[in-house]
Formats: sequence, structure tokens, C-alpha cells
Amino acid sequence: MTSGRLSTHQVTLRSGPVTLRPLTEDDWDLVVGWWNDPDIASDADANEGPYSLGQVQKIMRGISRHAYCFVIEFEGRPVGECWLQAMNLERILRRHPGVDCRRIDIEIERTYWGRGIGTAAIRMLVEFGCEREGADAIFAMDVANDNPRSRRAFEKAGFELCAAVPQPSGARASTRHDLVIWAKRHIGMLAAE
Ligand SMILES: CC(C)(COP(=O)(O)OP(=O)(O)OC[C@H]1O[C@@H](n2cnc3c(N)ncnc32)[C@H](O)[C@@H]1OP(=O)(O)O)[C@@H](O)C(=O)NCCC(=O)NCCS
Repeated sequence: MTSGRLSTHQVTLRSGPVTLRPLTEDDWDLVVGWWNDPDIASDADANEGPYSLGQVQKIMRGISRHAYCFVIEFEGRPVGECWLQAMNLERILRRHPGVDCRRIDIEIERTYWGRGIGTAAIRMLVEFGCEREGADAIFAMDVANDNPRSRRAFEKAGFELCAAVPQPSGARASTRHDLVIWAKRHIGMLAAE
């Protein structure tokens, strides 16, 4: 695990009222609030809270070494976070040797759900990942079968189901899904517009 500060960047992405701006060391209160928000945690892929400031910092600083981490702003207000991260799961890397695979993780405060903010953020991350970063494929990992909102947001941005992973008995979700968008498909969607 890493020590030290968050690895930051200078990328800001905008689409109408939705802005993705770099996550910084000034944002810990926001991030701790989101990670411990029961509405978000009950839908997100991990539900292991409550998280202390130290735990959040340790995990996010580690992620940030291989990711572009953003605060999602809606009309100038911080409403959530997302990141585009180098793929870190063996089950994907094994299946796609030599392929530049990334993943998107995202969470938004409940008050702001259903307004297209998630889809806009995902689309911006895909555009940035495929067109500026040269990613070959971008994944959404472990989307729970009882989280259709998340699946729909990714599908609206062009993602397709690529794997269904059965969960152990007793787990909250009986199945988790991986979704993917390939850069070739993303570029094809642009050409068709
Ligand atoms: C998942 C999340 C990022 C989506 O963001 P959002 O801003 O609410 O998403 P959008 O408004 O862009 O799109 C949601 C879509 O899901 C649809 N939807 C909502 N509930 C649904 C349901 N029960 N069944 C099917 N579709 C549903 C909405 O109607 C909308 O589609 P539409 O525009 O075609 O009507 C957000 O809800 C969130 O942060 N959830 C908690 C954390 C989480 O689950 N993170 C992802 C972990 S994999």
C-alpha cells in the first residue's frame, strides 16, 4: 500500500451542467461522507464501512497511483466521485493479455440520482479514456443484479454485458455483472452520430 499524498492530475472534463474536476487532498470530508452514506453504500459494489478518515485516505491514495480520480460536480456543487483506473482484477487481465484495460468506479449522492449525471460522467470518462488515454477497453466491475440503475447508466453510455459472476450464498446480490465498452465500439458510435 502507498503512503504519502494523493496522486493528482490536471484533467477537468465538462458536459453541460456536469463537471469532473480532479480529486484533491482538500476533498476528504466529502469522500468520507460519500463512503459512509448508507444510500450509496447499499448500492455500491463494496459495503464494508463505516470507514475512518485514515482508511479512506489510505485506499484512495493507493487507487490514485493508477487512476484519474474526479469529484463530480452538478451546477458547481460536489455530488459524487468517480475514477478511471488501470484494470486491477486478475480475471479480466488473464482474459485480455496485452490489452489496455481500465475500469470505472462511480458514486453519486442519492438526491441527485436519475438526472442523467451518472451517464454523463461515464460518457466523459469513456471519451477521455479511449480518445486521449488510448485505452482499448473500459469495464464496469461487479454491478449487483439488484442495482439496475447502475447497469442502465453504463448501458446508456454504450457498455455491454460481458460476464455474470455468481456470488456465494448469503451474499447481498446473487449475481454481479461485468460490463465493457471497447474503444472500437466507442469510436464507431461517434462515427454513427
Ligand atoms: C449508479 C449511479 C452512479 C447512476 O447515476 P445516476 O445519475 O442516477 O444515473 P442516470 O440518471 O444517468 O441513469 C440512471 C438510469 O437508470 C434507470 N433506472 C433507475 N432505476 C431503475 C430500475 N429500478 N430499473 C431499471 N432502470 C432504472 C433510470 O431511469 C435511468 O435511465 P433513463 O435515463 O433511461 O430513464 C448512481 O445511482 C449511484 O451513485 N448509485 C449508488 C452507487 C452505485 O451504485 N455505484 C455503482 C456501483 S457498480
